[in-house]
Amino acid sequence: MIFYFSATGNCKYIATRIANKTNDRMISITDVMKKDIHSFDVPANENIGIIIPTYGLGLPVIVCDFLKKLELVTKEKPYLYFVATYGTTPGQTGYFANRILQENAYSVDAYFGVKMPDNWTPMFDLSNKEKVRKINEKAEREIDVILTKIVQQESGDFMRRKPPLFVAQTYYRNYEKMRKTNNFWLTDTCIGCGICAKNCPISAIDIQNQKPVWTVDQCVMCLGCLHQCPKFSIQYGKNTQKHGQYKHPNVSVGIG
Ligand SMILES: Cc1cc2nc3c(=O)[nH]c(=O)nc-3n(C[C@H](O)[C@H](O)[C@H](O)COP(=O)(O)O)c2cc1C
Ligand code: SF4
Ligand code: SF4
Repeated sequence: MIFYFSATGNCKYIATRIANKTNDRMISITDVMKKDIHSFDVPANENIGIIIPTYGLGLPVIVCDFLKKLELVTKEKPYLYFVATYGTTPGQTGYFANRILQENAYSVDAYFGVKMPDNWTPMFDLSNKEKVRKINEKAEREIDVILTKIVQQESGDFMRRKPPLFVAQTYYRNYEKMRKTNNFWLTDTCIGCGICAKNCPISAIDIQNQKPVWTVDQCVMCLGCLHQCPKFSIQYGKNTQKHGQYKHPNVSVGIG
């Protein structure tokens, strides 16, 4: 069973590669959160994978909510691995995830990180397609190593580039500020197709007069709406327009 959250496809791609190798089921955290499903029957010998992006050196808020409610119905303790994708550092995502899981008497056996294109385009520039391609090419080798370890059910902390815990805990407070939806603005290219509203993991967008309107002050800030818009009409702050849109080339994300 591979639980993943993915706005631009990096985590979905890793989940797909693991599923192709292990035949484990892929489960979208967005889908189960929308359906209010939190309990899962785990067949004997099935691994549990949690694959998520790093946000503000910590966990996306929807992942925290998912992990808090997660119930695994199982006779024996499954091998549980955690993979964080990131652009610069996976922060302390593994520590934060394990801390929540332990409240429900689960724990992580193996921690992994994979460096991938950084979809936080208010800061990072993904407009150079060749640079982006090279980052994804390098990630393939990291994924190969992880696949072998997962198949062999290796335990340990294999996550590199982690900052000290106090740095991650302090920095994570910035995520609160990043999550403000009033930073979004719309270019005049919007065609009112509604893809942004349909794909938003927390249904934070309404289409009114054929334009998206954010109905909450704070969202997950996955940037799925910005990166998946067919007209690149959604922008955040000053820099996203010049930094380009991104989707992992080998998986589909959302319906757009
Ligand atoms: C709100 C937000 C915050 C992010 N914070 C970090 C971070 O602290 N460190 C980092 O290396 N990458 C960060 N990223 C980049 C993502 O973790 C990275 O691009 C991830 O692979 C995206 O996964 P996805 O394509 O499955 O959505 C952030 C992205 C977003 C949208
Ligand atoms: S996905 Fe883009 S074009 Fe479609 S309604 Fe949303 S902002 Fe407009
Ligand atoms: S409004 Fe956009 S950034 Fe916020 S949760 Fe929805 S899709 Fe993600």
